[in-house]
Amino acid sequence: MNTEHLWMHFTRMSAYADTPAPVIERGDGPYVFDSTGRRYLDGLSGLFVVQVGHGRSELAEAAAKQAGELAYFPIWSYAHPKALELAARLAHLAPGDLNKVFFTTGGSEAVESAWKLARSYFRHTGKPLKHKVISRAIAYHGTSMGALSITGLPVLKQDFEPLIPSTLRVPNTNYYRRPDQRQTPEEFGRWAADRIAEAIEFEGPDTVAAVYLEPVQNAGGCFPAPPGYFQRVREICDEYDVLLVSDEVICAFGRLGEFFGATRYDYQPDIVTCAKGMTSGYVPLGAMIASDRLAEPFQHGTSWFAHGITYGGHPVGAAVALANLDIFEREGLNAHVRENSPLFRSYLDRLLDLPIVGDVRGDGYFFGIELVKDKHTRETFSDEESERLLRGFLSKALFEAGLYCRADDRGDPVVQLAPPLICTEEHFAFMEQVLRDVLTEAWTRI
Ligand SMILES: Cc1ncc(COP(=O)(O)O)c(C=O)c1O
Repeated sequence: MNTEHLWMHFTRMSAYADTPAPVIERGDGPYVFDSTGRRYLDGLSGLFVVQVGHGRSELAEAAAKQAGELAYFPIWSYAHPKALELAARLAHLAPGDLNKVFFTTGGSEAVESAWKLARSYFRHTGKPLKHKVISRAIAYHGTSMGALSITGLPVLKQDFEPLIPSTLRVPNTNYYRRPDQRQTPEEFGRWAADRIAEAIEFEGPDTVAAVYLEPVQNAGGCFPAPPGYFQRVREICDEYDVLLVSDEVICAFGRLGEFFGATRYDYQPDIVTCAKGMTSGYVPLGAMIASDRLAEPFQHGTSWFAHGITYGGHPVGAAVALANLDIFEREGLNAHVRENSPLFRSYLDRLLDLPIVGDVRGDGYFFGIELVKDKHTRETFSDEESERLLRGFLSKALFEAGLYCRADDRGDPVVQLAPPLICTEEHFAFMEQVLRDVLTEAWTRI
């Protein structure tokens, strides 16, 4: 088979023991094409990455030009023009005093870097016991050992335990499955945020360094936060001197119609972690963007942040990110997402007439559709049904119908959509039609 030597990520390789893996060969705008020439709508922007769409020669040219000029130089004690320029531009776009940009190559490294900064910062400022991290149930924050420790998905962790101690989970903002169904969004938001205060109290405020939250939690199927949630979390973090890390590996760069998700929901993080959409995936690049306050202890004398990555701030990545931001600004992509998100949502909301669709949720160009066995009781599928439905049928059927997206059962079963930000009504209508046909068929197979 074609995968004899390619060890695919998060993949049951047995699935390709007898049949070849689909091979995606090229992309153009919101579409990708496989090796037989078939076209698919890229309903997930690859992996929440290709914001400006595929096949942008402008980005390829920016990469080629930079590689010709200076392919590589580290940002360890030296700088190069594109890293300087990109850092300044990101600092300008990031909310408030997030002015210090520490480049990485991807999201997990950004998440790890933020934890290391939190620990190191408190050590330098007389609170050496502060080292623990709080994150939310089912949240995905990456797979390297530190990031995996923060990730809230037991199924991804169990093969690698024991992980780094001192991380703990609090409830996420799944309003559809809130424990007390009588709660209004505001009451639920307050309740969920207060669980963070409770966890800090349980652990001892002197030991907790940071809380990691996504603006919209991806794993579990797009949980936006109820109104007031982030503001309450900010208050709690201030009260206990705990850093608020906004993990925006998915939610930055237009996914929610702003350069940063924190701007969308009007809260001020101490650190933003980002990657993916920064270059629209044309080359890898990530960053941890920290506040002036956090960087301050490392600006004097012999003090330093003892951390670095060979390819962090790679010149080609930085050049592509700058060209990508140019496209955002020239084409008004954030405004396009803000204007079209309600229309996108309205197409997906139509699916609520299907018996299998329990909830549609999300924001921007980032939605999850939760599938249920019984709409009225909100009963979910058994593991066996989920396996048969999601893995056995849905993903393949959607793909065969020309829509690449994700059927995910890391929480309750959901279909996730996060198309390139250039998509318009014709693409929303296509997604709705394919989902309608395939979900209708799925219902008959339960
Ligand atoms: C919120 C979040 N954090 C961290 C990561 C890890 O990023 P990477 O896969 O680039 O290491 C991801 C990846 O999807 C993510 O969604």
